[in-house]
Amino acid sequence: MSGRIPDEFIDELLHRTDITEVVGARVRLKKTGANLLGLCPFHSEKTPSFTVAPAKQFYHCFGCGAHGTAIRFLMDYERMDFREAVEYLARQAGMELPAAAAAAPVPDRHARLYHVLAEAAIYYQEALRRHPASAKAVDYLKRRGLSGDIAARFALGFAPPGWDNLLKRHRDRQADLVEAGLLIERDGGRVYDRFRDRVMFPIRNRRGTVVGFGGRVLGDGEPKYLNSPETPVFHKGRELYGLYEAVQAQRNPPLLLVVEGYMDVVALAQHGVQGAVATLGTAVTPDQVSRLFRATDRVVFCFDGDRAGRQAAWRAVENSLPAMREGRSVEILLLPEGEDPDSLVRAEGAEAFLRRLERETRPLAEYSLEELADGLRLDAVDDRARLVQKAVPLVRRLPVGIYRDFYVEKLAELAHTGVGRIEQAVEQGGEGARPTAPERPPAARRPAGGGRGAAMVRRTPVRQALTLLLQRPALVAHAGPLDQLHGDLPGLDLLRQILEIARDHPDVNTAGLLQRFQGHPQEAALWRLATWELPGGDLEGEFTDCLERIRQACSSRQTSELRAELDEERDFDAAKDKLRTLMQRRRLQYLREKASRGALTDRESAELRALDEGPSQ
Ligand code: UTP
Ligand code: MN
Repeated sequence: MSGRIPDEFIDELLHRTDITEVVGARVRLKKTGANLLGLCPFHSEKTPSFTVAPAKQFYHCFGCGAHGTAIRFLMDYERMDFREAVEYLARQAGMELPAAAAAAPVPDRHARLYHVLAEAAIYYQEALRRHPASAKAVDYLKRRGLSGDIAARFALGFAPPGWDNLLKRHRDRQADLVEAGLLIERDGGRVYDRFRDRVMFPIRNRRGTVVGFGGRVLGDGEPKYLNSPETPVFHKGRELYGLYEAVQAQRNPPLLLVVEGYMDVVALAQHGVQGAVATLGTAVTPDQVSRLFRATDRVVFCFDGDRAGRQAAWRAVENSLPAMREGRSVEILLLPEGEDPDSLVRAEGAEAFLRRLERETRPLAEYSLEELADGLRLDAVDDRARLVQKAVPLVRRLPVGIYRDFYVEKLAELAHTGVGRIEQAVEQGGEGARPTAPERPPAARRPAGGGRGAAMVRRTPVRQALTLLLQRPALVAHAGPLDQLHGDLPGLDLLRQILEIARDHPDVNTAGLLQRFQGHPQEAALWRLATWELPGGDLEGEFTDCLERIRQACSSRQTSELRAELDEERDFDAAKDKLRTLMQRRRLQYLREKASRGALTDRESAELRALDEGPSQ
């Protein structure tokens, strides 16, 4: 794997990067006071609530809660992964990744497989145009209503009849072709082409690299479709046929439509219905659902209305639950029995098909609860209880957040019971009773207008200190010794961690601090604090004041613990020691309190300094 990118590099990068340029190149921003304001690119809105704060080098949307550094922005907006975003910004900033962190070259093995797969795709594509036997393949595609344009967009091809078309072209790379799934090697050592006399559908990954193929027989024959096997570069549970093409066709697809077959994807595109993707002959996986949600907010699953289709829809529901959160929607569209999107769009045209997408889809919550309630009599107490019992496992798969709350409310309504009852049922049952953690911190909904949201969370000294420190990391210079900041105050550990980072990295800025907590359980809380308004006036005084109050709270907690221990202590010498420590602590508390009022005499300040450094602390 590749080396970790050091935090210091990220700090420097975030320093040299101007987030207003990164975002401004992609979103129209207007200056308002210290910040820039625009329409949020991560949800649809008419009045701008997306702010970019140059001083803090991050963005925050007061509508949907999206937030992040320049790195996060590129990840979400350009769909880069972390390393890609860092590399991109580094190039812009003229920085070079430290040698140890440079991406390890793609393992040779993968590169070799990509290479033979790409060559095979070209070979099949050319064979469709030029091979003497290709006429019947071209005919077949025409009969299915596909134009040359669409065939080109999906890079459709033809594997000519014969056992060794690929084999004889690449004798020297036989092992790679076998590993890529293009050749089959029998036990006796016999090797031959996997795909023969079939229309070929190349499967491309997120970057557009061919990773596998599906091949359809011309006309009748078994098996109808032959697929690449799992290989080091092809995993059926991860890839989606047509996703690359869908995102190429529309930068931000308003919806992605999940269908069952290769032909459905291509036929829909042919009729101008964009955004169709297909799983590769298997049920959709949670991994695939999160991939879809990286590209869009609306996912519609489309199935045949028969029994098998409904079963498949249920699997899709179950595997979508972990990805559900506010702002995302999953919908189910059941087609008339016996129809697939290909047959339907050909029979009734694109407009009628699009109308179904607008009128006949059912949101996941509604669909799943109605499926569960199917056959139950909700006017009967027993059946209501059964409904709750059946729905509990689904609720448990939903990440904590507004979407889950909404789902529970809907269930409560349907079962004529209270939300509390349902939460109780969810809590009970041990194994897996805890709701799944959200894949990202749930977006905090806050009223537009900045600081007001802060009123919902009490400004404790710890939170206030965090707010100040996150936004003005240089304040760490006034923090004083950190070793007394121990205790069970909420957030104190986090504060100490951040103080230490800020002390050890004098160049760190807000974005750099926050970046280090990506994926941390408290990440969302930190972001919120970083957006709280700073108090006006003397920040340094406010900061030292907060820390002072925290130290006092810590030490008074320690003191009362010590008191309790002293009461229990039976050993005389130990009790004497504890008593001495206790007296010292009391004295220290007194002096600190006096210091915070600025009322210390010179002697007392010397004493305080000595005690602060003393071994008993
Ligand atoms: P269908 O049989 O519904 O295929 O299988 P289809 O797309 O409608 O095919 P046409 O319209 O007859 O050409 C749906 C999907 O299931 C997988 C393929 O991914 C196919 O697209 N499948 C089906 C196989 O992998 N192997 C098969 O033999 C059949
Ligand atoms: Mn079909």
